Formats: sequence, C-alpha cells, structure tokens
Amino acid sequence: MNKFVYDIPTKVYFGENHLKHLGTEVSRYGKKVLLTYGGGSIKKSGLYDNVMAELEKSGLEVFELSGIDPNPRVASVNAGAEICKRENIEVLLAVGGGSVIDCTKFIGAAAFYEGDAWDISTGKAPVTDCLPIITVLTLSATGSEMDAVGVISNPETKEKIGMGSPLMQPKVSFLDPTNTYTVSRFQTACGAADMFNHIMEIYFNREADLFMLDRVMEGLMKTIIKYGPIAMAEPNNYEARANLMWTASWAINGFLRGGKRQEWSCHPMEHELSAYYDITHGLGLAILGPRWLTYTLDQSTVSKFYQFGINVFEIDKSLEPMVVAKQGIEKLEDFLFNTLELQSTLTEIGIDETYFDIMAKKACADGFLQGFKPLIQQDIKAIYKMCL
Ligand code: NZQ
Ligand code: ZN
Repeated sequence: MNKFVYDIPTKVYFGENHLKHLGTEVSRYGKKVLLTYGGGSIKKSGLYDNVMAELEKSGLEVFELSGIDPNPRVASVNAGAEICKRENIEVLLAVGGGSVIDCTKFIGAAAFYEGDAWDISTGKAPVTDCLPIITVLTLSATGSEMDAVGVISNPETKEKIGMGSPLMQPKVSFLDPTNTYTVSRFQTACGAADMFNHIMEIYFNREADLFMLDRVMEGLMKTIIKYGPIAMAEPNNYEARANLMWTASWAINGFLRGGKRQEWSCHPMEHELSAYYDITHGLGLAILGPRWLTYTLDQSTVSKFYQFGINVFEIDKSLEPMVVAKQGIEKLEDFLFNTLELQSTLTEIGIDETYFDIMAKKACADGFLQGFKPLIQQDIKAIYKMCL
C-alpha cells in the first residue's frame, strides 16, 4: 500500500433544513454572488425561491447564470466568467447536479484568465486561482459537490475533457436529500450507475489493496444496489435518497483511493461517447461497465472478481473463482439493465461503429489506459463493439 495525504476540505451540511445557514456561509466569501443553475428544475421544485430568500435575508447582491446544459458546454463557462469579470463577483453559488457544479468550477477558474476558458480544460492555461464555490446539490451521482474535478464539453471539437485543481474544490456543500425527490426515474438510475462505476474504477485496480477500503467499497456498492431501486419506486423515500446522496459523495471524494495510483478506464471511454453523441454520462457507463469487466477478466485478474462476486452479490463462495467472476458480471448486468431499467446496448441509444476508431484513439490519448488492465486503442474499440 502506498502512503497518501488525506485532505477533503469541503464543509458539508447534510440533511433537511440547513438552508438557513446558506446566507451566512456565502457571506463569509463576499457580498456579490453569481448564482448558477441549469434548465429550470430548481424553479419547478421551488428550490430557487428558497435559495433566493436566504440570499436576500443576508443582503447579498445576486447575479445569475442559468441554462447550464447536462454535459456542460464551454460557452456557459465563458458566459459565466464574463459576468464575474464585469460585475466583480466574489463568490459562486452552484445549485444543481454535477453539470452545474462542474461548469461553476471552471467559471471560478476562468474568472482569472483572459482567454477562452477551453484553454483551462485542455491544460494550455494552468488554473492560477479560483473564486470560492458553494454548492446546493440536487442530484446524487457525480460527487462533484465534494471533489476538485470538472468535466466540460466542446461541441465544436467534439471533445469532453475532465480536469481538476485543488483550487476548484467547493468550500461548502449543502446536501439535502429532499432536494433530490424530484429527480426522474431515469436520472436516478443514471446517477446510481455513475456512482457505482466510480467505485468500480478504484476497486478494480492492480495495486495492493487496503482491506479496510475494499470492505468500505463493497458496502457502498451494496448500498447502491439496495437503495437505487427504492428511490426509483418511491421518489420521496428519505432513507433511500439520503443513502444514495452520501454514497455518491464518498465514492469520489478521495477517501477510497487510499494512496493507490489511480487511472480510470470506463470514464475516458464514456466521455468520448458523450462528446460525440451527447448521451447521459451514467447511461454510457452502465453500458460500458460490464463489457469492460468482461474484457479484463482472465487468470491474472480473477481473484478480484471473485472477491467482488462473493462480497457484493453474495455468490456462493465454494464455486470456482472463474464461475463466481462471470456470475458477478451477470448480476451487475441484471442490476443495471433490469432493476435500474437502463438501456443495455449502444445500438438501442442510436450509436453505431461510425466513430469507434477515433473515439478509441482519443480515449487513450493515442497511448494506453493504464487501469485494471492496460488498454490500447484496439482494446477500447473491441470494448465499444461488445456494447453494440
Ligand atoms: O438542468 P436542470 O433543469 O437542473 O435538469 C437536470 C438535468 O436535465 C436534471 N436535474 C438535476 N437535479 C434535478 C433534476 N431534475 C429534477 N429534479 C432535480 N432535483 O437532471 C438532468 C441531469 O443533470 P446533470 O447535472 O447533467 O447530471 P449529473 O449530476 O449526473 O452530472 C453529469 C455531468 O457530470 C460529469 C459528467 O460527465 C456530466 O457532464 N461528471 C463529473 C464528475 C466530477 N465532477 O467529479 C465525475 C463524473 O464521473 C462525471 O464525469
Ligand atoms: Zn462518472
């Protein structure tokens, strides 16, 4: 096991009725606030009015950027940065899902950059500073509320790039499970698939594991298996929404990593699907995940699959490891495609082989994806083909 530094500097207000602290928290960072949100779900749910009431009580001056798309575009980042510079914004308040929060992180960084914000995504321009960010989360999935990463799309170049900086880590996040009651069945399922995949990307790793963290990860995966379908069937089930919300944050906030060198596999492959076809991130991961596992299963990796099969899906541990491994993947498919009711193939969502070569090349940056099993362009193309 490698040594590591544990540093997750986001203050979290978890649970109901914490919004009364919003004005105080925002005021710590300034008086001029840019409120960012998406296509209007927060207006329909009434959250927008509640947030505005709290900000007004604290006498804050509020500017707005709305219409941030799922798979947020660099155009929104540039528009937000422009408001920040023009109005001397001091603090950013993101109210929404991962897309709104990701976009806001880049707005915060781009506020200190004079060129096109896309330069920050590509790494051409380093993040030198970032406005303080506070979030009110409305969808449990990405963990963006508690990590330092954001993913931005550029439809012109058909690119979707993830990038992070400690400067972009939210200062405070309000996690009220009741704010996710209005999330649709489909988005609830996609969120569950996304957080499950975040854990798999760390769990299926070649480096020495910490026993304690593997058991935590298995517990988190079991939590998603238990509560995903309950949240879909009973959208207002607090226990289900709360368990999913806290699981999503801890799946990606750095705790599970435990010093392991971490290179993800499914995510770069999925980001290409979203870049070319603008699909929902969690859906792409659901389709790719089991095929990636199948592709990486062999005698050298089977012991990890065995552990996954018996500890997550409670498969009979007296069976042959390879049998347990295959049954584990089948159980995962059953969960994603039958229980969560997500589409199971790329064909079903209108994706064919047209861009497989270029997507595979870009997913591994024309080199290797050094995850659970090193994947080169041909391997990635083969995995895409398994998804048809
Ligand atoms: O735009 P609005 O009107 O708010 O509607 C959204 C959107 O249509 C809706 N929604 C959100 N909260 C709702 C709600 N509808 C009803 N009630 C609510 N309470 O749901 C739709 C999807 O929202 P979005 O924010 O796009 O979903 P998600 O949170 O899954 O974010 C996905 C984005 O995050 C990136 C993904 O690639 C994708 O671009 N990721 C970010 C990561 C990170 N920062 O660490 C890691 C992830 O792996 C992921 O790549
Ligand atoms: Zn993800």
